Amino acid sequence: MQDLIERAARDVAATRRAVALTGAGISIESGIPPFRGPGGLWEKIDPMEVAHIDAFRRDPQKVWDLLIRGMQSVLAQAQPNLAHRGLAALEDMGHLQAVITQNVDGLHQQAGSRDVIEFHGSFAWQRCMVCERRCRSAELDLAVIPPRCDCGGILRPDCVFFGEMIPPAHLVRSQQLAAGCQVMLVVGTSATVQPAAMLPLIARDAGALVIEINPEPTPLTGSVSDYLIPGPAGQVVAAIRDRVGELKETS
Ligand code: APR
Repeated sequence: MQDLIERAARDVAATRRAVALTGAGISIESGIPPFRGPGGLWEKIDPMEVAHIDAFRRDPQKVWDLLIRGMQSVLAQAQPNLAHRGLAALEDMGHLQAVITQNVDGLHQQAGSRDVIEFHGSFAWQRCMVCERRCRSAELDLAVIPPRCDCGGILRPDCVFFGEMIPPAHLVRSQQLAAGCQVMLVVGTSATVQPAAMLPLIARDAGALVIEINPEPTPLTGSVSDYLIPGPAGQVVAAIRDRVGELKETS
C-alpha cells in the first residue's frame, strides 16, 4: 500500500485541480455507520420504507421515529476524523479545489474544508413541507414528533430522499468540477447511487486520474478508476497529506 500512497501523493502534488468525491465510508471512523455492507443501515431497515419521499409523505411519524431521530443523535456526537482533516489540509495547500460529498453529516466543514458541495443535502437543517422555510436542526424541539413549522407544516431534514432530485445548482457545479479536474479522489463510497456515481466517469472521460480510497473494490475499480488504495480513509488520506507536504518542502 505504501507504493500506492506514494503514487497518489505525487499525483496530487502535481496538480492544483484535484477534486474529492466522498461517501459514508469516510465517516465510519467518526462513528457513523455506512448504508451498505457490514453494519450498514439498509441491512437493518428497508430504505424504501424510511428514506423515500413517498414513505415520508405517507407516514412522516414513522420516518422520524425509525430513521431521522436516530441519525440526528449519532450525527450530533460525531467528530471529523483524519480523512476529513486531510482533505481540508490538501485544500489549504492549494491542491484540492472542492469536496463533493454524499454525506449529510457536515463533518467536512467542521474539519475546515471551505468548498463543500452537499450533493445529498444536510441533516443540519430542516425544511417545512408546506412553506419551505428552513430552520437549524440543533434548535428543534423534538418533544413533538414529527416536529412542525410555525406555519403548521411538517418539518423534514433538508436532505435528498430517494425519489427526489439533486438540487440543480449542486448537480451542475459537481459535473463542472468533475469535467474540469485533473485528479479525482473517490473516498469511501460504494459508487452504487446515481447520479453521484456518474461523477468519476465524467472525470475519467475528461482525462482526469481517478484514485479510489476504500478497503473494498467497487464497480469503479478496474473499469473507471486508475487505481484503488485498499485501506481505511483516515490512515490513507492522512498519509497522502503528509507525503504531499514533504514533496512541497523538497520541491
Ligand atoms: N474508509 C473508507 N471507505 C470505507 C471504510 C473506511 N474506513 N469502511 C468502509 N468503507 C467503504 C465501503 O467498502 C463502501 O464501499 O465505504 C463504502 C460505503 O458505502 P455506502 O454505505 O453504500 O455509502 P455511500 O456510497 O455513501 O452511499 C451512497 O446511498 O443510501 C444512500 O443517500 C445515501 O449518500 C448515500 C448514498
